[in-house]
Amino acid sequence: MIRCIAAVLAFASPFARVFADTLPSSYPHVYSNEPSTNLGPDWQSYFEVTESLPNVTFDVSRNFAGNIAVQREGHPNNTLFFWAFEKEEGSLTADANSSSTEPWGIWLNGGPGSSSMYGLLFGNGPINIASDYSALVNNYTWADVADYVWIDQPVGVGFATADADGYAPNEDQVGEDFMGFLENFVKVFPSLATRPLYITGESYAGVYIPYIMKTYFSMSNAPVNLAGVGIGNGAITSGQVFELLPALDTIQTYPQLIGYDPEVYKYFEEQSKLCGYDVNLTYPQGGIIPSVPLTLPTDRDVVFLLSEMRMRSFKSQLLSKLSARADEVHTLTRREEWKRDLTGRANGSIDSWYGCLLLDEFIDYALNYTYPWNISQTFDVYNIQDALNPEVTTDATVFLNDNQTRTALHAPTSKDWALSFEYTFGQSGSADPSPEPMVFLTELATNATAQNITIVLYSGNDDSLIAHRGTEIAIQNTTFGGIQGFTKKPSTPWYNESGSFAGIVHQERGWKYVLVHGAGHLVPTDAPDAAFVLARDFIFGSNETGLVDGDRVVGGENSTLAIDVLPGGDEIYYGVGATQSTYIYPSATRSAWEAFIQTATAAASAISQSQNNGCGVQQVKRTSKFGWAVSMITILCWIL
Ligand SMILES: *[C@@H]1O[C@H](CO)[C@@H](O)[C@H](O)[C@H]1NC(C)=O
Ligand SMILES: *[C@@H]1O[C@H](CO)[C@@H](O)[C@H](O)[C@H]1NC(C)=O
Ligand SMILES: *[C@@H]1O[C@H](CO)[C@@H](O)[C@H](O)[C@H]1NC(C)=O
Ligand SMILES: *[C@@H]1O[C@H](CO)[C@@H](O)[C@H](O)[C@H]1NC(C)=O
Ligand SMILES: *[C@@H]1O[C@H](CO)[C@@H](O)[C@H](O)[C@H]1NC(C)=O
Ligand SMILES: *[C@@H]1O[C@H](CO)[C@@H](O)[C@H](O)[C@H]1NC(C)=O
Ligand SMILES: *[C@@H]1O[C@H](CO)[C@@H](O)[C@H](O)[C@H]1NC(C)=O
Ligand SMILES: *[C@@H]1O[C@H](CO)[C@@H](O)[C@H](O)[C@H]1NC(C)=O
Ligand SMILES: *[C@@H]1O[C@H](CO)[C@@H](O)[C@H](O)[C@H]1NC(C)=O
Ligand SMILES: *[C@@H]1O[C@H](CO)[C@@H](O)[C@H](O)[C@H]1NC(C)=O
Ligand SMILES: *[C@@H]1O[C@H](CO)[C@@H](O)[C@H](O)[C@H]1NC(C)=O
Ligand SMILES: *[C@@H]1O[C@H](CO)[C@@H](O)[C@H](O)[C@H]1NC(C)=O
Repeated sequence: MIRCIAAVLAFASPFARVFADTLPSSYPHVYSNEPSTNLGPDWQSYFEVTESLPNVTFDVSRNFAGNIAVQREGHPNNTLFFWAFEKEEGSLTADANSSSTEPWGIWLNGGPGSSSMYGLLFGNGPINIASDYSALVNNYTWADVADYVWIDQPVGVGFATADADGYAPNEDQVGEDFMGFLENFVKVFPSLATRPLYITGESYAGVYIPYIMKTYFSMSNAPVNLAGVGIGNGAITSGQVFELLPALDTIQTYPQLIGYDPEVYKYFEEQSKLCGYDVNLTYPQGGIIPSVPLTLPTDRDVVFLLSEMRMRSFKSQLLSKLSARADEVHTLTRREEWKRDLTGRANGSIDSWYGCLLLDEFIDYALNYTYPWNISQTFDVYNIQDALNPEVTTDATVFLNDNQTRTALHAPTSKDWALSFEYTFGQSGSADPSPEPMVFLTELATNATAQNITIVLYSGNDDSLIAHRGTEIAIQNTTFGGIQGFTKKPSTPWYNESGSFAGIVHQERGWKYVLVHGAGHLVPTDAPDAAFVLARDFIFGSNETGLVDGDRVVGGENSTLAIDVLPGGDEIYYGVGATQSTYIYPSATRSAWEAFIQTATAAASAISQSQNNGCGVQQVKRTSKFGWAVSMITILCWIL
């Protein structure tokens, strides 16, 4: 699934999106022991998962699952699906107004259209599904930190149900549906109404969670007590900021992408500047960071790409061109020639074929020229280090659609569970019309500060799709606690349970930023140990590592870490699934690069002041001409 999407990204600009003509209708299943009373604590025994789950031979804490209505007028079948696990025996079923200091958590995957069962079964849930479909205990589940609830939403996603004409048309509706669900949910588990709630999630949940918060803040009588949020690799900014702007940083994190070739780096550096991607972050930040324009290719008509059929033939054309090229590229000499054949490209103008789609461009470059990637392969935008083809299987359909599982979880029978589909907003099927959360983040932060709600933004360092640079821009572009952005550059290390370096943490005025070393887009999946500590100490906990306290920073500032780019691993994993191989470039290549990049980045920061590229007018025009495309770009590309 991930691979398939990444392949589209690799060979086309991300503007193609195809909508189903009609959306399926689904509704919750009424199991025989369903109470006839209104929702209340007597429903706990109905929702409790008492029948055994296939392959789950180990103990899991008491858990509860099923569908609950979102209370949307005229849509009684619109529900969300939850699967909740207790931290301790009886903790979730505590009485109203009790356990009032015991937190609880919610996990949301993104998409739009991806099921949070992915997070549960492949990430931070108590049960993990292995590549052979067996079930394993997860020693790093977030359900050990707090009572935890994984929720399929918006309506229609995963096991959540929706009328064909009841899918959420925009993010405000997503927020209202979520609050409608929560109001019902706390009728069943009444202590949750007053206990501190932490909403966590990743990727497109970086859109959902801010809108859920916005809805929460607009309510005079919210059903829950929000205490904090934790957003991982979140789609908070515009697509060009989180996805395209960070390209040069990603290349610097993984110079393997360009075979450690300084000429190629210089080419991308120039493109990045021409595209207006060389945004300067300062600590403190002086003033609003202007919107970053999107410059589309001029050689390609993006409207042309919208039709799926044309898009397919375009793709196969490019693929056959690439194959032909690959046959010629067998000798190293020719390969080296092409590598440096940037004629007509590094000439002070934006490449006409790629425009400013620099992510696409470096992916193509890696697939065209760089070992161990190759053109018959797709590219894992979510985790650069992972060039496995095919990847290790992560498939929960067998487990979740099994009748025994379905019955035990009180899941719907009117639909099968699927990891993901392209969520269409509204009946006619269109992209999410809601503006990116960046637009109202300062207002949201002001509301959050007034209620002592902690905001944690974290990023897996190896993600190229929603890379950490965009998150840093979002933070520096937001005023919280009366000051814009962080006043000191994040540079304090933190460590996982095993005592290994886990990345960088920084905290100021109720905002925390955590960069996770050795993890991609799916932090709990890629680095379960570090993710557990992140949840326990920074999202739910008040560990002060990285906290600015007057002139000092708790845990110290490390100048080696006060950098824009935290180097990734040397290893690239390739080969088939579990029988993987590891490729590391020769040490001479790596040390030559080291010497080059230090000089190059030092020079860049010295001269960046005067880089005014003169293509602003053209960029603005293109942005408005293809205004819809700007929002489209944020659709196809994310999935979990
Ligand atoms: C809700 O689902 C039931 C099936 O359980 C169906 O009979 C009914 O028509 C649906 N209601 C709406 C409003 O779609
Ligand atoms: C819980 O507290 C609220 C007020 O804080 C009160 O209205 C409600 O009756 C209490 N519920 C129970 C079951 O004690
Ligand atoms: C249970 O695990 C086995 C592998 O051990 C797998 O073949 C089977 O599909 C799994 N069953 C379910 C329902 O997930
Ligand atoms: C989980 O922890 C137990 C006990 O500490 C250990 O025996 C087991 O191997 C661990 N499981 C995994 C999947 O790491
Ligand atoms: C902030 O809170 C006010 C109510 O105090 C609400 O009207 C507004 O919509 C909220 N805005 C955001 C972005 O949370
Ligand atoms: C910075 O925030 C403003 C809103 O305050 C927004 O218009 C602008 O696009 C943001 N800049 C970036 C680079 O996201
Ligand atoms: C990759 O190869 C294709 C086909 O030859 C070519 O059109 C494209 O420009 C190449 N991309 C890069 C970034 O080198
Ligand atoms: C699962 O249940 C459905 C009806 O609920 C039934 O049609 C199907 O045959 C069952 N599958 C298996 C493998 O038992
Ligand atoms: C704010 O929340 C923190 C923990 O998140 C807590 O220690 C502190 O007492 C709270 N302050 C107020 C004024 O509620
Ligand atoms: C806080 O986090 C640091 C860094 O991860 C760790 O060394 C320390 O033990 C934690 N402190 C507390 C009180 O948990
Ligand atoms: C700073 O961080 C680097 C990289 O993690 C490490 O090698 C070095 O020991 C750290 N320095 C101090 C003073 O902690
Ligand atoms: C970035 O900010 C720093 C510190 O304020 C300044 O020295 C540098 O010239 C700025 N660069 C650009 C491109 O604005």
